[in-house]
Amino acid sequence: MTRENVRIGLFGYGCVGQGLHDVLNSSKGFKADIVKICVKDRNKKRRISMDHFTYDKNDILNDPSINLVVELIDDADEAFSIVTTAIKSGKNVVSANKMMIAKHFKELVDLQAKYKVSMLYEASAGASIPIIRNLEEYYDNELLYSLRGILNGTTNYILTKMHNDGLPYADALREAQEKGFAESDPTLDVDGWDAKFKLCIITGHAYGLFLNPEEVFHYGISRISKFDIQYAKEKGFKIKLVPYVGKTSDNTITSFVLPRFISSDKYLYNVDNEYNGVITEAAFADKQFFSGKGAGGHATGSAVLSDISANSYGYRYEYKKFQQGTVSNYTRDHKLEVYLRYSDEKHRELFGFEEVSEYFSGRFYKYVIGIINLKNLYALREQLRDLDVFIVNTGRKL
Ligand code: HSE
Repeated sequence: MTRENVRIGLFGYGCVGQGLHDVLNSSKGFKADIVKICVKDRNKKRRISMDHFTYDKNDILNDPSINLVVELIDDADEAFSIVTTAIKSGKNVVSANKMMIAKHFKELVDLQAKYKVSMLYEASAGASIPIIRNLEEYYDNELLYSLRGILNGTTNYILTKMHNDGLPYADALREAQEKGFAESDPTLDVDGWDAKFKLCIITGHAYGLFLNPEEVFHYGISRISKFDIQYAKEKGFKIKLVPYVGKTSDNTITSFVLPRFISSDKYLYNVDNEYNGVITEAAFADKQFFSGKGAGGHATGSAVLSDISANSYGYRYEYKKFQQGTVSNYTRDHKLEVYLRYSDEKHRELFGFEEVSEYFSGRFYKYVIGIINLKNLYALREQLRDLDVFIVNTGRKL
């Protein structure tokens, strides 16, 4: 296979951009030139010579000598404008922007085909875990029953520190921010948006459906309290934020993001701090488990470097599950058993519990464990953040 000489125009020099630079400089086997770096902030002190930097995106987009645009900024709208301009001018793209990809997934797939360019984005889901390429290449003919895991490093870091060290939520979040795991707007992490964007990207490769993220229910950890941690500990569980996508019938899938109780015999129990973990369940390969760092400059930079290298060999996603088209429906009509911690009976009534197996009412909090329908949760999605409740999927098979 011939390898193209890679001349990179890099957008963004934050945590991931610098991580990529370090990883690229340390790479023995693969060399690529970062020709120009486009950044927004003229006043920020940079750790390398300013000769490389530009503040005008056209310096990269209009430079015919640059054959690969690596987009590592956190503004999804600006990223979309950069990426689509690059694709339309025939440049290959590597991106780590999960929000941008999830929101414009089908359009980006179509643009790649139309302009015969390749866009790779392994770092956008699970950072250092090569899950997208595995879904594309290894699972291309697998009957995948489900995929679930931990896809957000920040929330996993917070939950680990709360569970293991008794750290208050706000302190744990601050630490995750200081370590460079969190998004610039951390509500994207703690409210489950980031995990949902990643889940939507994975769903495109696992099942060939390019879901509008608006269609997918997500709920995060911003309402967690010490009572929830205490309950989990008493039962021998940890709480993890777990996105799920799986089949409900041969041609239909469901998906959601919810906190989940994890017992100590489960793979995800020991996936702590900023690590991510992905479990696939399939007809032939059976159960498999991937784990690795899910956030941080070097871990994410390693996935970006892998994409840059793959790109130089002419690798492109073929979207095999989309081409096969076996899954065509998406449903939210799906029953789940959940734990609901609440204080006001009126709030509990909103959830429409079908069966209740456990109920507790104490001085400081109440909880109920029972079966609800995902479509009810989805209908409540706008209100949930303002209610004094916390929801956890028990994970019990129904
Ligand atoms: N904020 C993200 C996380 C960064 O915490 O997982 C990696 O995508």
